[in-house]
Amino acid sequence: PAIDEMFNMYDFEAVASQVLTAEAWAYYSSGADDEITLRENHNAFHRIWLRPRVMRNVSHVDMKTRLLNYETSFPLYITATALGKLGHPEGEVVLTRAARTHNIIQMLPTLASCSLDDMTNARGEGQIQFFQLYVNRNRSITQKVVQAAEQKGCKALFITVDAPQLGRREKDMRVKFVDAPPDVQDEKDLRRDQGAARAISSFIDPSLNWKDLEWFRSITKLPIVLKGIQTSEDAILAAQYGCDGIVLSNHGGRQLDFARSGIEILPEIVEALKKEGLYHKIEVYVDGGVRRGTDIFKAIALGAKAVGIGRPLLYAMASYGQAGVERALQLLRDELEMAMRLTGAKTLDDIRPEMVDIKNLTDH
Ligand code: FNR
Repeated sequence: PAIDEMFNMYDFEAVASQVLTAEAWAYYSSGADDEITLRENHNAFHRIWLRPRVMRNVSHVDMKTRLLNYETSFPLYITATALGKLGHPEGEVVLTRAARTHNIIQMLPTLASCSLDDMTNARGEGQIQFFQLYVNRNRSITQKVVQAAEQKGCKALFITVDAPQLGRREKDMRVKFVDAPPDVQDEKDLRRDQGAARAISSFIDPSLNWKDLEWFRSITKLPIVLKGIQTSEDAILAAQYGCDGIVLSNHGGRQLDFARSGIEILPEIVEALKKEGLYHKIEVYVDGGVRRGTDIFKAIALGAKAVGIGRPLLYAMASYGQAGVERALQLLRDELEMAMRLTGAKTLDDIRPEMVDIKNLTDH
């Protein structure tokens, strides 16, 4: 189908499922085990209903905000997804260019198919990128990676904390897909029978712990955000340890099956942070299952600063390249703007908790 027949994120997914290789489709679309969390990530949004206000003069709607003090045209960022060249011959830089068109922030993956140089050089004037870090067992490598990211102009460090070992993704294992990430040069470090995810997990440091934050502070001045927080206990710890932000995420349902969705845990985490007087100290982001402008709206209403999005943009990139990613972002933008008009919210600050009904959110 032609690109102008793409009207929502599911349309891109349908095309991608046809055009991607079996290996790429397995790697991008899979979740852990029975994929209960994968499905739940989006389904949880369906348990939140809206309470629109009317007669509020919504002729002008402003969706701009700042993430860690960097401007974005609307509260959505491109999250890190590994191995972009599986979806498009040019890989992650395609997302970089589309992010620039829309003035949104892109998070660069440690396990990108493009080099850090390629991704940072693809940046336009004033464009902002963050960096996602997998902590290597060899901390001198980690230090080099972090310092290279900082030196190349990335503006924040998102440390992935939900993957001391990569999850078991059976689709991936069935196609026996494997692609050596840049850091794994030694053939014997790859476990070819286990699918891409397991193969690349061998270098991730499972000993990562709270005390390491001090070390990260000593090697970089970048703001530190923990990606993959799933409980209020850990959210409070992150704030107490001086982190600048947290991402409520279950890694797109690819890690622990039966982890709750980011949107479901958002209200209790915001409440706990407020109770401890820590909410103003830390920015809270959510990713997983964001497919509609109303999903973004719901996350903002419940206290998130922004949401991250992964698969839909990979699918748009695989289907139509940069133009596809730009169209996907435009659709989400338009949907959010529409949701704001129809709920009487002129700015993101106007998106109040009273505008969502979460009575059924935790009722499965
Ligand atoms: C991911 N994700 C991820 N996260 C991370 O911290 N480092 C990584 O290398 C990757 N790689 C990756 C690859 C692919 C193919 C997917 C789909 C996801 C997780 C990602 O950042 C994010 O948490 C989820 O993708 C969000 O869910 P949605 O938007 O894909 O539903």
